Amino acid sequence: MSGRTEAPPVTLRDVTGADVAVFLVQQADPEAARMAAFPIRDRATHFAHWEKILADPTLGKQAIVVGERVAGNVVSFPLGGHRLVGYWLGREFWGQGIATRALAAYLALEPARPLHARVAKANVASCRVLEKGGFRVVGEDCAPGSPGETPVDEWIFRYDDPPAKSRP
Ligand SMILES: CC(C)(COP(=O)(O)OP(=O)(O)OC[C@H]1O[C@@H](n2cnc3c(N)ncnc32)[C@H](O)[C@@H]1OP(=O)(O)O)[C@@H](O)C(=O)NCCC(=O)NCCS
Repeated sequence: MSGRTEAPPVTLRDVTGADVAVFLVQQADPEAARMAAFPIRDRATHFAHWEKILADPTLGKQAIVVGERVAGNVVSFPLGGHRLVGYWLGREFWGQGIATRALAAYLALEPARPLHARVAKANVASCRVLEKGGFRVVGEDCAPGSPGETPVDEWIFRYDDPPAKSRP
């Protein structure tokens, strides 16, 4: 026996109503909200938000599953003339390469190109996930943030499919 720990398999599947309760807890983690520079939603706002997402076939949404557990979600949505991608993991799943693998899997499911992402500059982990996924920085912005909060300096990332390899 080698003793090496295998990375757990990461799969994506359609989001179910039951997953939304898991996402509620994951988005309410103050450390996650601080990283993402996102306001925590209360229960009613969170369920109303996901009800809209689940009802709209133009919005991309997948649950990230690790083993039997729902580790988080990946979403895509239109904003400001771009199609944006976003993801969120429960804290116990951080630091295991799960977001990197989930994003790679999502790029195979989401056909829109280019895809963009907007990330708080301070969110080094998320910037790294995007870089490893083949996204590159194409701009920056200062988002107003939540009412009463400091504006958020963001990188704007863009993903295009790599050019097809030419035949030798
Ligand atoms: C950001 C987030 C998705 C990263 O998920 P993850 O599964 O831990 O990321 P990975 O394990 O795939 O790591 C990707 C890279 O980021 C690095 N990284 C992970 N956590 C880090 C941290 N806290 N600080 C710096 N780098 C970090 C990893 O080392 C890895 O880079 P490497 O391969 O060069 O070593 C996760 O922390 C999260 O859900 N945070 C809260 C919500 C959020 O910020 N969503 C994104 C909004 S834009």
